[in-house]
Amino acid sequence: MPKSSLSELVIVANRLPVDRVVDADGEVHWHTSPGGLVTALEPVIRAAKGAWVGWPGAADIELEQFEVDGMTLIPMTLSASDVALYYEGFSNDTIWPLYHDVIAPPRYRRVWWEAYERVNRRFAEAAAAATAPGGTIWVHDYQLQLVPRMVRNLRPDVTIGYFHHIPFPAYGLYSQLPWRRQVLDGLLGADVIGFQRVADAGNFLQAVRRQLPYPTHKSRVTVTDTNGIDRSVTVKPFPISIDVAEYQAIAKRPDVMARAAEIREELGHPRAILLGVDRLDYTKGIRHRLKAFGELLEDEDLSVTDATLVQVASPSRERVAAYMQLRDEIELTVGRINGIFDTTGHTAIRYLHHSYPRDEMVAMYLAADVMLVTALRDGMNLVAKEYVAARGSNGGVLVLSEFAGAADQLQGALLINPHDIDGMKEAIMAAIDMPHAEQTRRMRAMQRRLKRDDVAAWAEAFLHELHSHVREHNE
Ligand code: G6P
Repeated sequence: MPKSSLSELVIVANRLPVDRVVDADGEVHWHTSPGGLVTALEPVIRAAKGAWVGWPGAADIELEQFEVDGMTLIPMTLSASDVALYYEGFSNDTIWPLYHDVIAPPRYRRVWWEAYERVNRRFAEAAAAATAPGGTIWVHDYQLQLVPRMVRNLRPDVTIGYFHHIPFPAYGLYSQLPWRRQVLDGLLGADVIGFQRVADAGNFLQAVRRQLPYPTHKSRVTVTDTNGIDRSVTVKPFPISIDVAEYQAIAKRPDVMARAAEIREELGHPRAILLGVDRLDYTKGIRHRLKAFGELLEDEDLSVTDATLVQVASPSRERVAAYMQLRDEIELTVGRINGIFDTTGHTAIRYLHHSYPRDEMVAMYLAADVMLVTALRDGMNLVAKEYVAARGSNGGVLVLSEFAGAADQLQGALLINPHDIDGMKEAIMAAIDMPHAEQTRRMRAMQRRLKRDDVAAWAEAFLHELHSHVREHNE
């Protein structure tokens, strides 16, 4: 890159914030995806003439860097083997299950680790080459845990932040990882390491204390780099959020409200619509949710005219064995429950193995009386926050797992332990029967908090910490 086009701020994430769109003539276009992270970062990126390093989402795509909305996108090519070993293998069959409390067994394969190191190095090199002298690099998530250290070795002049979007496990689990020291050392290349919850930051610090000779004090780790110089690293929680105003605005649109009414009608106007929206992932507790709902029908606490469960399960990581197995199990269970309880006019579970545009999701949130977020472990769960933002003054009840990071901010939800099926059944019934006044009271409290702590405030808090950390340590 010519020096003049170097960026003051470079975001590094596994995925680029773009969607591949094929038009009617078969031509491929790339549109920026309207995801939360890019919305939050767009203003800061634009102001800093920023860049985003990431993967366009399919194997062997070779793209030149391109500009969108004042942001430079730097596409990383992953070969089919990189996708199999680094993305499906180490990222999603080792780290993902290990960091989500081994809900599925993690597989520790040395060839996957080698690919992870190799691909992390390429991301680090691309980021280092794109950043202006004294600039900032902000690395995102578990696919790129080695990048902070690699960038520091290449560019000691640069300020480095890392944000971890998923949980960080308790030491007893983390210590299984054959490369546990290398991963900690990779992360400690950053100046600031952000986690979702207080517990995640605590688990990380505990792992550092057990595995590395670096002293920790409160939220600080003193790292001695290979050059013998001591450096301070800040480790803190920064719970991520959504673009609250955007969801509120979509929810107020007449076409979206009309679509919500249409959805209710299509479902035959049951007394209560229950909704689950998840990537089809074993961390989300979909099986537990189906079990609870199936038992409520079986016990005749509910009938299909009383309640329909709409379950959106968007396709995800479909070539990883644990995900294929989960899909089979879910689809078998849905088929069984529907076979027993459906009538010609009503269905128990409307199962939708698709992903939907944001407007349609908001229409579903508006149509749903009860939102079920029953994750066994989840870094944050933004769906819970989207539901609350979209409801406005329409009431609605959120049933929320205490094992999702969102439980720390959404205290007006009915908090559940998804392993306790009886407790979940009680919460679902309490949600269906909750008086409207209580629904609105709880929603309002959650909305007030959410409005203050939206995704722009999150990005600002992280970058503020990063820059004040650097000021403090360079004085
Ligand atoms: C989680 C992770 C993200 C990831 C997303 C979708 O939210 O924290 O890093 O991008 O899942 O998963 P995918 O494997 O499709 O990128």
